[in-house]
Amino acid sequence: MLIAGNWKMHKGPAETAEFCHALRDRLTELVGVDVAVCPPFVSLSAAVTALAGTEIAVAAQNVHWEARGAFTGEVSAPMLLELGVYGTIVGHSERRQYFGETDESAARRAAAALEAGLFVIACVGELEGERERGETEDVLRRQVGALEAHENLVVAYEPVWAIGTGKTATPEQAQEAHAFIRTLIDVPVLYGGSVKPENAAELLAQPDVDGALVGGASLDVESFVAICEAAR
Ligand code: PGA
Repeated sequence: MLIAGNWKMHKGPAETAEFCHALRDRLTELVGVDVAVCPPFVSLSAAVTALAGTEIAVAAQNVHWEARGAFTGEVSAPMLLELGVYGTIVGHSERRQYFGETDESAARRAAAALEAGLFVIACVGELEGERERGETEDVLRRQVGALEAHENLVVAYEPVWAIGTGKTATPEQAQEAHAFIRTLIDVPVLYGGSVKPENAAELLAQPDVDGALVGGASLDVESFVAICEAAR
């Protein structure tokens, strides 16, 4: 069971250090569950330092597929590894929606990161209209089909209509999508989309839900720890 906190564009280095020290103090309660935090690039170093010697992993929110080159604004896998970063998210729906990420570019990022030795959380999920039109499986088949199974890869199923909306998929909807993803690729599948301390236990109890990618509720130590406890 993996619980990863996707901080998005929240918490600079000072706030990150403060959060990670507080999380560290609650470590004893996190036994039996893998935990990761995904701060913005500029805060990765602060997180790595604050969590050194703990089992809590630090992951980035994106990574480029080349090791170096003329790619203004991008960061490579070797650079993240040098910093002590353990993994990265790729293909988040916000990258797809606002920054032109495609199935192909997300897959390139994932493949290069895995090749370099990072753990990868690859995000997939349908838009509200796609679900309404009965296209969920077609979308997932296309998005997951771009990825290749790897021992350090997990997929995060994040229905876009559930992200930051407070509208969580029902445990049945999540289970159905996760079971379908499992027929496409043999890797663990996390659920993401308005996961909160109140709904985490029920979602995580589904047979094909292997953890959660948590946005808003991961920004507060108490609610993040509560979700980790629900996973246990
Ligand atoms: P949310 O975000 O938990 O705030 O809905 C999840 C995500 O985007 O990873």
